Amino acid sequence: MLRKTEFARRRRQLMSRMGDYSIAILPTAPVRQRNRDIDHPYRPDSDFYYLTGFAEPEAVAVIIPGREHGEYILFCRERDAARETWDGLRAGLEGAREIYGANDSFPISDIDEILPGLLEKRNRVYYAMGCNQDFDQQVMNWIKQLRRQSRSGVHAPSEFIALDQMLHEMRLFKSAAEVKVMCEAAAISSAAHLAAMRHCRAGLYEYQLEGEITYQMQQRGGRHVAYPSIVGGGGNGCILHYTDNNKKLRNGDLVLIDAGAEYDYYAADITRTFPVSGRFTAEQRAIYVLVLKAQQAAMAEVKPGNHWNQPHEAAVRVLTKGLVELGLLKGRVATLIRKEGYKQFYLHRTGHWLGMDVHDVGEYKIGDVWRLFEPGMVLTIEPGLYIPAESKNVDKRWWNIGVRIEDNLLVTKEGHRVLTTAPREIAEIEAIMNGKHPSESA
Ligand code: GLY
Ligand code: MN
Ligand code: MN
Repeated sequence: MLRKTEFARRRRQLMSRMGDYSIAILPTAPVRQRNRDIDHPYRPDSDFYYLTGFAEPEAVAVIIPGREHGEYILFCRERDAARETWDGLRAGLEGAREIYGANDSFPISDIDEILPGLLEKRNRVYYAMGCNQDFDQQVMNWIKQLRRQSRSGVHAPSEFIALDQMLHEMRLFKSAAEVKVMCEAAAISSAAHLAAMRHCRAGLYEYQLEGEITYQMQQRGGRHVAYPSIVGGGGNGCILHYTDNNKKLRNGDLVLIDAGAEYDYYAADITRTFPVSGRFTAEQRAIYVLVLKAQQAAMAEVKPGNHWNQPHEAAVRVLTKGLVELGLLKGRVATLIRKEGYKQFYLHRTGHWLGMDVHDVGEYKIGDVWRLFEPGMVLTIEPGLYIPAESKNVDKRWWNIGVRIEDNLLVTKEGHRVLTTAPREIAEIEAIMNGKHPSESA
């Protein structure tokens, strides 16, 4: 787990941006029911966890710069021997202070009595409106309560500011400690993809290969996946958000795996595509080589000073030119790019920010212009080509080829560092799958 000092540093950074006479209020995520009596595995809200390191449900963090009796207040569940016997241990009010560094802590059940008093004399409220309807209502009720008392001299806040925007700008830039954790998430996930290449064989169900990946992640400390794994054989690899994972893998098909571990609340996001048999066909090879070339061209654009869209533009140029050379698109490359002809085979963008959320927070544009890369940003580069069966004007030999190659990059002063290491080159993948890679004898 990240050290207490990392969370304290983040709170200080936030407070220095908030200014005087302000207050920030952040609830964590609610527990969500899966079905009768059963809940989904609990995951705290990323913004809340980013500032607190506190992973229990039913908690609210309040940050009040300059408050004499403590700037960081945590509302949480009290210790309760009976409940803890059923549901697990709680930090309790003392733990909130001792373990998590809160200056003050109160039972979550008392929040309606206490919060209005904390809002008093504060002009500005930082709060992420619209994320949690029930809590929005609660916040409005506290404000209304104060306004009703205005004739007796009570001062209600008058300014409301989106806390999420300020926090997301902070989260976009990863500290050294965060980079270390993200490297670990990347290493765990890379190893799981390598294991999947070794494990793959015709006749396995896609979910059985998924099971191997989850198992390998967990053996390395990645307790949860960062998002539901996509394991799509053949035409299923052309379905962008395929998660059924319930068909048999067949020789002659490719399999596309998009899977990443969450490690200490940070995500990795890797896609690898390889032949079930361990040997690419000529058509699969041609598409794969093209996507890999597009990925390399896109990665080369990731450096400080370049803007967010440059990698995507580079990928689109390489893919469109290659599709014309293969006869899959007809026309002039420049026209096909301008008229987005490539979208027949490449529908998505080339990447996204990566962090605590797999599609992480942070603006892609400042005003109307693409933002520039700066050291500390982490992103994915993930071009792909997808040719489903019955594709219009496409010879049958290309059908059911879906290829995506996705890696995770940290922007550095000099350019970038690729954090993910799962094999990408055709020769390496084939050697691994056929037991001929030097690492196989290790
Ligand atoms: N795994 C989600 C994505 O690649 O964006
Ligand atoms: Mn991605
Ligand atoms: Mn992905």
